[in-house]
Amino acid sequence: MGGPSVEREVSLSSGRECAAALREVGFRVEEIDAGPDLASRLSALSPDVVFNALHGRWGEDGAVQGLLEWMRLPYTHSGILASALAMDKQRSKAAFAEAGLPVVESRLVPRGEVEAGHVLAPPYVVKPNNEGSSVGVYLVHEASNGPPKLSPEMPDTVMVERFAPGRELTTVVLGDRALEVTDIETDGWYDYDAKYRPGGSRHVIPAQIPDEIRALCLDYALRAHDVLGCRGITRTDFRWDEARGAEGLIILEVNTQPGMTPTSLAPEQAAAVGMSFGALCRWIVEDASC
Ligand code: DAL
Ligand code: MG
Repeated sequence: MGGPSVEREVSLSSGRECAAALREVGFRVEEIDAGPDLASRLSALSPDVVFNALHGRWGEDGAVQGLLEWMRLPYTHSGILASALAMDKQRSKAAFAEAGLPVVESRLVPRGEVEAGHVLAPPYVVKPNNEGSSVGVYLVHEASNGPPKLSPEMPDTVMVERFAPGRELTTVVLGDRALEVTDIETDGWYDYDAKYRPGGSRHVIPAQIPDEIRALCLDYALRAHDVLGCRGITRTDFRWDEARGAEGLIILEVNTQPGMTPTSLAPEQAAAVGMSFGALCRWIVEDASC
């Protein structure tokens, strides 16, 4: 848990929750804040399974997965390639499009160009190609005065994506089973604050949507998980423009290390299908491999 990514705090919260739940169901658990000494700490400990509760760069992008493969330590969640692909929003979208899954148009653009003028007709979204939790996401409205001024932390190349209007839906996959559809209601944008502040968003499970859209979400989430070669638990995020019916449903991204904090979506969706948090964590551990 932890680690150096911008999602460090989220990961510490996920890690603590999972560690507590795993102890409760009978596992012996050591908590490690993943720093530069991770390899030596793992070597000293020689665990049966590594529960990966990292989010974001280095923990969700294939880097730590490579280390764990190298050390022959069974670990949870997706492997190297699936993690790397899912974390690269542009490349994973190309893989979805090739498989016939619906995505919204986007491209990678040098930040200087993004700041110099509108590279797409507004509304559009500017985001890092490989971060999570909505850190560094800019929504450029029609009404805005000009192109966005990006913070110095933003990478040299960013993703510019046509804004897909509509409801925010999400589906969790456990192995070969898509669980449910959650409808996320927010007063504004589903940003970092709305994601992690208790009460920052309302989650409706099961989502009150037509059967056809529900079935599509479950099908697309399973297929997206498979297209990237994911393992264990993933969460696929969608936008659904109700006015356009089935045509209005698009995949935003697949998360290979979905949040496990008290306000996170995956534990809630597991609970909605009768799986306690402890049972979910146990399932994840039992699914580990290397
Ligand atoms: N990136 C956060 C942790 C999520 O997908 O839940
Ligand atoms: Mg994400």
